[in-house]
Amino acid sequence: MITAAVGTLLSAVFFNAKADEGMWLPSLISERIGDMQSKGFRLDAEDIYSINQASLKDAVVLFGRGCTGELISGEGLLLTNHHCGYAQIQKHSSVEHDYLKDGFWAMSRDEELPNEGLTVSFLDRMEDVTSAVLNGYEEGMTEAQRDSVVKANSAALIEKATAGGKGLDADVEALYYGNQYFLFVYRVYNDIRLVGAPPSSIGKFGGDTDNWMWPRHTGDFSIFRIYADKDNNPAEYSEDNVPYRPKRHFSISLGGVQEGDFTFVYGFPGSTREYIMSEGVRYISEISDPNKIALRTLRLEIQDRYMSQSQDVRIKYSSKNASVANSWKKWQGEMRGIRKMGTVGKKREYERKFREWAEGTAYDGLVARLDSLYRILEPYSYASDYYAETAWTVELGRFATGYSDLYAKAALSSSDTVAEKFLKEAERMAASFYKDYYLPIDKESFIAVMDMFDRNMPDGSKPEYFFRNMKRYGSVEVWADSLFGNSVFADSSVLYGTIAGQAPHDAWMTISSDPATEFGREFRKWYSEEIRPSAKRISDEINLTYRDYMRGQMEFEPERTFYPDANLTLRVAYGSVQGYSPADGTYYFPVSTIEGIMQKDNPEIFDYDVPERLREIYRTKDYGRWAVTGPDGRKTVPVCFIATNHTSGGNSGSPVINADGNLIGINFDRVWEGTMSDIVFDPDLCRNIALDIRYVLFIIDKVAGAGHLLDEMTFTE
Ligand code: ARG
Ligand code: ASP
Repeated sequence: MITAAVGTLLSAVFFNAKADEGMWLPSLISERIGDMQSKGFRLDAEDIYSINQASLKDAVVLFGRGCTGELISGEGLLLTNHHCGYAQIQKHSSVEHDYLKDGFWAMSRDEELPNEGLTVSFLDRMEDVTSAVLNGYEEGMTEAQRDSVVKANSAALIEKATAGGKGLDADVEALYYGNQYFLFVYRVYNDIRLVGAPPSSIGKFGGDTDNWMWPRHTGDFSIFRIYADKDNNPAEYSEDNVPYRPKRHFSISLGGVQEGDFTFVYGFPGSTREYIMSEGVRYISEISDPNKIALRTLRLEIQDRYMSQSQDVRIKYSSKNASVANSWKKWQGEMRGIRKMGTVGKKREYERKFREWAEGTAYDGLVARLDSLYRILEPYSYASDYYAETAWTVELGRFATGYSDLYAKAALSSSDTVAEKFLKEAERMAASFYKDYYLPIDKESFIAVMDMFDRNMPDGSKPEYFFRNMKRYGSVEVWADSLFGNSVFADSSVLYGTIAGQAPHDAWMTISSDPATEFGREFRKWYSEEIRPSAKRISDEINLTYRDYMRGQMEFEPERTFYPDANLTLRVAYGSVQGYSPADGTYYFPVSTIEGIMQKDNPEIFDYDVPERLREIYRTKDYGRWAVTGPDGRKTVPVCFIATNHTSGGNSGSPVINADGNLIGINFDRVWEGTMSDIVFDPDLCRNIALDIRYVLFIIDKVAGAGHLLDEMTFTE
């Protein structure tokens, strides 16, 4: 059966992955530890992951649902990125206390701010459960039958793993497209308080201009504290809760980094697709990325224009703009990186050899099958991309539909209390929508993206609703005038005035025929009825075929070391501090310093407006114990560094660890030329970007004046 074959394959292959590529499972790290040690690591596998004793894994957490954090004191102090704590920092901010702008520092424990809904998850253990998950599966079963075996067995494993323990949570995850299954058991804490964050002029220094770029000077960190009940167990927020006492926290190295030093990143990368075939890569780099980039360019131009004209609009759209710009910029790097590496051609060549080898084996015909499935999928992927980047981005349509859905639920509720719950939810949704909404941006974006939809979607795939309206209004501009001019959602007071005093059912009737609701609803209906079912059916088929292709690749290349694609589970990536050459005639050094901050300083440019306090420290060279000798022999302060660790989205906030297991940095980004690493890793170009831990300490101590926090940390040289 599958399990046994994969098991032998996995343990038969050792130390020969390409330099530094890979995100390894901590529980199997003994298979890599020899390679890690040969590259400078001085600890053992048990120090990284152990189920018998405290190990480094006990100091690493999944922060929220998409970042990583690490424990840095025996009293629950936790480090992550500024951009990972951004939502919480923003939530506590108001005009009087603008913590985004000015930063926030709790000067005592009772000033630490609770954050409803925020969780951190500790990995208790992970375990290969392949045979338990496939127990009852027999050769010849249909995929649906296999699925129900997998689901039932997984549910039983999860139930058993989470029984009788406070805050326990568990998942069974498929690795290698379902050739292997792992159980992950977590302990989830939910009283997490904000302790400190630098001002955005430090924590987001360089903004979207410098995002995904090196050289970098962003102080991208924030600090939280985990609280527990008196027995150190997870507990809802309570004043009686006490700081959590971790099994393990990081010692902080003050020794700094040098080119060539061993580094290791321990965190939760979200998603990679390293083993997909050429057609998949071609679709991403030649069709999907360019389409999505073009559509976002239009929206970003509109947002940037309005944001530069008004402070109020800038605040409203800062978070939306950052997330639109973040992927937009990443896709550009990814697309170029894939083209530069010639990945599509290289994969085709690989597939040609694989096909030859596979002739007459169980893997015969797989590549051709995948190839034709991708061709069948393409129009659906194309339409999904277009939907996601056009109609779905129209804020008014999305809000109106969501709001109307809640009214529908309220109207159809069997009890008043249930109805009340939905109405309250609608109220909250509206409050947060209007707080950050600016209609002219939305309307102009509507015109821009729907015009592209009209021009670039094949007529045969457009929704009937779209034709109807184009016929009725003649152009997207006139359609937009009518939609934004007549929708009651366009103005909160009109909305509230219209439905005031109406019973939920009447209000629902009123708003469900609103043009904005209709727009969101009709497009959603088109997507969920005409696009998604086929897209899903074909993708499922593709993934199923990948299960065999993955196994085939492992047999085809028995000497190659495979690592499972990222899936937001804990991984180890290791490498070394290294500069790189992004282009002919150019070489980037791996370390940046405060000199670079001051070189970028420009009060006229929002992203580069250095806070006065930092300027003053620089002027007087008041670096205190944080001074180091720079490359030119003068006193300076280190800021960021790059290394060859294979990381992905989700690794933000991950600890960067040195050869002795001590903390030297916080991971927060990758270099632009290397963002294709989610699909293909190039050891010459792929670099993760980390904040030097000494810059973090310098900011806490010298800029924030929160040096008392250092008293609870553990330092080593
Ligand atoms: N590029 C980093 C990551 O993918 C940081 C993003 C946040 N910063 C920003 N300027 N948008 O998450
Ligand atoms: N900035 C990313 C994150 O938030 C990290 C990356 O994509 O390299 O996880």
